[in-house]
Amino acid sequence: MIRLDKYLADMGIGTRQEVKRYIRKGQIRVNETLVLTPETKIREGEDEVWIDGRPVGYVSCEYYMLNKPSGVVSATQDSRGKTVIDLIQEQKRKDLFPVGRLDKDTEGLLLITNDGQLAHNLLSPKKHVDKTYYARIQGRVTREDAERFAGGLNIGTDDNEERTGPGILEILRSGEESEIRLTIQEGKYHQVKRMFEAVGKKVLYLKRERMGTLYLDKELKPGEYRRLTDKELDELKESQKGVRR
Ligand code: URA
Repeated sequence: MIRLDKYLADMGIGTRQEVKRYIRKGQIRVNETLVLTPETKIREGEDEVWIDGRPVGYVSCEYYMLNKPSGVVSATQDSRGKTVIDLIQEQKRKDLFPVGRLDKDTEGLLLITNDGQLAHNLLSPKKHVDKTYYARIQGRVTREDAERFAGGLNIGTDDNEERTGPGILEILRSGEESEIRLTIQEGKYHQVKRMFEAVGKKVLYLKRERMGTLYLDKELKPGEYRRLTDKELDELKESQKGVRR
């Protein structure tokens, strides 16, 4: 059960104050009955709520897969530029946020939701969720680099160590410019770029392809998004049940 004013505000009909006004002005009906009190309790999914004759269904959680484009920040608000949330046009909920951050110049898989529990499970280092990145690297990536990644690296300084866990580095092409795939289980600040810096190399292009059981849909161009399928969502939630704490 949820208060009528919260129900309407959650669905983006207006701010809490605005929807209270709509209710008091007689614009809202619940199951055919005019309702004038914002405190009225609504059974989500059972009661039918209408504003000016239009139905307002209730959605408690939304889940979108976004192929984040370069140049957009992974935040809910930014005073200077566009955020990943601005890209989601059909959202119902106003409390969506990105699950983790990708750098402004990084592309790829970003889950956008308002499900705080799922986000916590995916991001907590204790939960060991694999994140896989594709990258183009300046210079020749070698087997020795892969061995160093496998042992974990110091991405801090000599005086102030910051060690990463092991990373699985797959070399797809090695040359003047190399292509790699890297799987890590953490999300430290600029982690992939700093891991390559630790072996004296520079990331030229970075894209996230996977987070746990969720893979970036190859049909999504940068800037495009879609809702998660039921199967994707079930698999993500299921995979969180047995994880180590
Ligand atoms: N590692 C980085 O360096 N940047 C990202 O955006 C994600 C992981």
